[in-house]
Amino acid sequence: MASARWPCLILALLSGVAVSGFPRRLGRLLGKRSLPEGVVDGIEVYGTKVHCKVTSRFAHNVITTRAVNHADTAKEVSFNVELPKTAFITNFTLTIDGVTYPGNVKEKEVAKKQYEKAVSQGKTAGLVKASGRKLEKFTVSVNVAAGSKVTFELTYEELLKRHKGKYEMYLKVQPKQLVKHFEITADIFEPQGISTLDAEASFITNDLLSSALTKSFSGKKGHVSFKPSLDQQRSCPTCTDSLLKGDFIITYDVNRESPANVQIVNGYFVHFFAPQGLPVVPKNVVFVIDVSGSMHGRKMEQTKDALLKILEDVKEDDYLNFILFSGGVTTWKDTLVQATPENIQEARKFVMNIRDQGMTNINDALLKGISMLNKAREEYRVLERSTSIVIMLTDGDANVGESRPEKIQENVRNAIGGKFPLYNLGFGNNLNYNFLERMALENHGLARRIYEDSDANVQLQGFYEEVANPLLTDVEVEYPENAILDLTQNSYQHFYDGSEIVVAGRLADEDMNSFKADVKGHGAINDLTFTEELDMKEMEKALKERDYIFGNYIERLWAYLTIEQLLEKCKNAHGEEKENLTAQTLDLSLKYHFVTPLTSMVVTKPEDNENKTAIADKPGEGGHSFSDPLHGLPDQLPASPDTLLRGWGPPLHHPSSREGRCHLLQHRR
Ligand SMILES: *[C@@H]1O[C@H](CO)[C@@H](O)[C@H](O)[C@H]1NC(C)=O
Ligand SMILES: *[C@@H]1O[C@H](CO)[C@@H](O)[C@H](O)[C@H]1NC(C)=O
Ligand SMILES: *[C@@H]1O[C@H](CO)[C@@H](O)[C@H](O)[C@H]1NC(C)=O
Repeated sequence: MASARWPCLILALLSGVAVSGFPRRLGRLLGKRSLPEGVVDGIEVYGTKVHCKVTSRFAHNVITTRAVNHADTAKEVSFNVELPKTAFITNFTLTIDGVTYPGNVKEKEVAKKQYEKAVSQGKTAGLVKASGRKLEKFTVSVNVAAGSKVTFELTYEELLKRHKGKYEMYLKVQPKQLVKHFEITADIFEPQGISTLDAEASFITNDLLSSALTKSFSGKKGHVSFKPSLDQQRSCPTCTDSLLKGDFIITYDVNRESPANVQIVNGYFVHFFAPQGLPVVPKNVVFVIDVSGSMHGRKMEQTKDALLKILEDVKEDDYLNFILFSGGVTTWKDTLVQATPENIQEARKFVMNIRDQGMTNINDALLKGISMLNKAREEYRVLERSTSIVIMLTDGDANVGESRPEKIQENVRNAIGGKFPLYNLGFGNNLNYNFLERMALENHGLARRIYEDSDANVQLQGFYEEVANPLLTDVEVEYPENAILDLTQNSYQHFYDGSEIVVAGRLADEDMNSFKADVKGHGAINDLTFTEELDMKEMEKALKERDYIFGNYIERLWAYLTIEQLLEKCKNAHGEEKENLTAQTLDLSLKYHFVTPLTSMVVTKPEDNENKTAIADKPGEGGHSFSDPLHGLPDQLPASPDTLLRGWGPPLHHPSSREGRCHLLQHRR
């Protein structure tokens, strides 16, 4: 895919242990012996520790929770964590009474057999996941004998992506009971040097935060630690039931004295590129807005509100137009017009008068918008060094005019001809998100879900801000011929201010003395080339702080990026190509122990002379097209964190959400 990338640059997790049964206070009252504080129904969670180690944007996170069963009988203890959607689980272990049961990453098909065997033996340990806005839920339950201890340890990894000028780790804190040793720590190592580091918690007062939180950074290292005592956990003012509950957010950025930074470790390199201070390239933007009947009410109001805010930010050099579609297509102007104050004033009136009506004709609306941009590009009125963007917002599936997804995709692909990106915003859940995503990806853009919520206008506006300031177009990242193998995506249609281009690969010759890279792009005024040359000896010196570096982080970062890009490519691939991409993705997922849509994490715990198996899978944003069919999990889940699924529900079918999945059920190795 093209241009800067903005999957939520967010890392989130929630850790806690849920104990079914008694309400907390009742459990405490019924305690026979004098039990430690925080014991609920016999279970004490005496430690929850989240340790995030970030090296050059690559985050390695370990969540450890320890519990003991003080009751006289066996109890079920479950471990719930929420992970960022963009993360891959890489390890999970269960330790019961000192014996550790490791998790193994297996091909889904193999995991399925193992799981079914366990099920047929009447023993299941379910692992359920569902997704919220930014999170996927991981749950596992085990029986813990009277007096026994259990430790859950989950590891996940993720490349933090830069978004509006910062990297963000979004940790959801929600222990379900008081935890004696509760701790979040983050150690950040950035070879470019850290320029800002902040941490905030939405759920406790500043006073409390300042006593439980420490944060510091200096040079290349940053540290954040949050250790609320039992008293502090009890006195959280905004939390129901006096427990911690809320968002804990760490944000940071690095120094950018030079537009690029290259790091090389163990034969793998990563190249970060984010130039500062370039003039903004003027843009021609067409907003293609769904005004069908289903947009009626709040959605329409929020869309109008967002468009009005966006109009305030449009620069005078930009050209724009609005295309509204329902059963038919109406346009504000016949051609793109410059964003002069008069035209913006007129555009505001137009937006305020938008009314919803009728059906959904995506095909005609998109083709109209694209042809307008094509025409503008050919005409004198648009500046030579401008760039074009189509932003479509829809809340439903096409149902009038051409409504076959494949055909719309083909029409749009042919009309755009690779010249500019298409961004598809899917409003709510009642739509074929996979289709929107495939269409955007094959036109160098991306799809984003807009959650139907009170802040939908802010989400829409936020998306626009990300693409509002292109600094470079047609960006090519080049390395000397034959010097690099296994290169990740190295051409991007746009580089947007506040984002970052990341390219990784393997050196063909590990003993080379110097490394050279060129980044070429068209700027607002002229064509630019940024050359990066480095001496390998200097590089080694610069990366000496070994204690902060997990040795192969660049190789893992490369594997993460490669898998992510292969999965994206897979969405629009067919036949042999798809098999080939799938096979490559699977091989990498297994080699690097990533739980991707093609693999599962399997933990088998012997129990009562039989085996209990848990499986961790990864769902996908597109109505869970990747959730494995074997568990009968719903394909389409309500994507709100409040409606998390528990238990194996019956499948809820969405007609098209199974399209485009890249799972491996037909693949045999
Ligand atoms: C998984 O975690 C366990 C416990 O920390 C560790 O012993 C094991 O080596 C890890 N496995 C992998 C593949 O990293
Ligand atoms: C995929 O295709 C390429 C050539 O197109 C081939 O070199 C490679 O071996 C194939 N990979 C797999 C895993 O089949
Ligand atoms: C339990 O798992 C172990 C290791 O995978 C295996 O050797 C053993 O046969 C299994 N037992 C049963 C009852 O399935």
